[in-house]
Amino acid sequence: MENTAKLRCIACGATPDSAGQDFRCTSCGDLLEFFFPGWNSSSLALDPAVLKALWIGRRTSRDALDQSGVWRFRELLPHIPEEHAITLCEGNTPLYRLPRCARAVGIENLLAKHQGMNPTASFKDTGMTFAASSAHWGKFSWVACASTGNTSASMAAYAARGSMHCLVLIPEGKISWGKLSQSLDYGALTCQLRTDFDGCVRILNELVRQKPVCLLNSVNPYRIEGQKTAAIELMEQLAWEPPDHIIVPGGNLGNSSAIGKALLEMRDLKLISRLPKLSIIQAQGANPFYRSVREFGGKKLEPITADTLATAIRIGNPASWKKALRVLQATSGEVEQVTELEIAVAKAEIGADGIGCEPASAVTLAGLKKLRRSGFVKAGESVVLILTGHQLKDPDFTIKFHRGELFADTPVAGTPEETEAAQAKYLQRAPVVLDADLGSVIAALDAAERNS
Ligand code: F0G
Repeated sequence: MENTAKLRCIACGATPDSAGQDFRCTSCGDLLEFFFPGWNSSSLALDPAVLKALWIGRRTSRDALDQSGVWRFRELLPHIPEEHAITLCEGNTPLYRLPRCARAVGIENLLAKHQGMNPTASFKDTGMTFAASSAHWGKFSWVACASTGNTSASMAAYAARGSMHCLVLIPEGKISWGKLSQSLDYGALTCQLRTDFDGCVRILNELVRQKPVCLLNSVNPYRIEGQKTAAIELMEQLAWEPPDHIIVPGGNLGNSSAIGKALLEMRDLKLISRLPKLSIIQAQGANPFYRSVREFGGKKLEPITADTLATAIRIGNPASWKKALRVLQATSGEVEQVTELEIAVAKAEIGADGIGCEPASAVTLAGLKKLRRSGFVKAGESVVLILTGHQLKDPDFTIKFHRGELFADTPVAGTPEETEAAQAKYLQRAPVVLDADLGSVIAALDAAERNS
């Protein structure tokens, strides 16, 4: 049983047989993670060539588990009995080239792994299929999460498919309508709390101590295990030839922890021969991890009151910061922060490549530009951006951007903001309202042609 997984505390190293309701170490209160003691053996089942062939073979299988881009890699995941698996054919997301963005950044090889192409349109589905299945296995009738919108949409879908009840806590007025509408349609009990994401987390942590609900936030280590598969699938798509850099947005920091964990495990299992540098980008108004690394050398994290239009990552006290720090250091990655305007411009640039993503995902491109300028990313290096959410998650943001309504202030002349604002203007494509006659449309077409 090579994939017999055990739990371990990331701080004190305790190895409890099972986790409590809050998934924290009973000795020191820190987070738990899965590890695989059996992977030290030289068993044929873990031979890299055998695994690669097995996973590729499953792509033509008609079995529901094999068709999932998560469960297809189950040899690297803790065991969950098959009859409890709740799957929506998640994963299997495309890897796109971004030629225009690459030119703008000044590198040749720029790819985007689009996790927004999952069943509920965000990367959360890869972790949720696994964590929801573990809740089903544990015979929970209720699952719950605090969310900025994507976790809740995903959890609600998987709970519905697994016939479990579902409680969603979201900050009132601070998540996009698209995400809110998803959890309503999937039948969740949706509570909009008059607080921010961090306030929702606090309430939920108290709730799980009193009620038998299964917590499905990313402190739940099953979530991290499922989310690992994005990196495994990425390496398979790259024929197991790692890129030089992988860039992810950082909010609660579960995703970066998961991708980093997968990279380290794949290196240990000799599935890849070298580690990409994993870099984490935060919005400037929601930058506690950036500050932790840059100001305190990762020794502590000071929670902040977060604010950004990229509401998915409006998080001031990220739960998984220590896990993220560990993978940042192990892969020699970098942290960056980006402004609201930089996020908006980067989002429109990804859109102009015919791809699109939600605002939080666009921090990756905005961050890459900074990492290019600082010399951390070199022109000849290959880069993969992890796009975490679909463009249609937050159409309000997109429409306001194109109508020029996103930012009220005019930037000061001669500042970098002025250059960025000019770039934004260049990308804006506000809809044109015309009388319904052919002449007006032809005039609009001719004007557009002259300006192109
Ligand atoms: N991108 C998107 C689109 C997200 O929804 C999130 C997190 C992140 C990036 C950041 O990922 O938290 O693992 O560092 N959304 C959570 C939610 C918090 O509730 O949907 P992270």
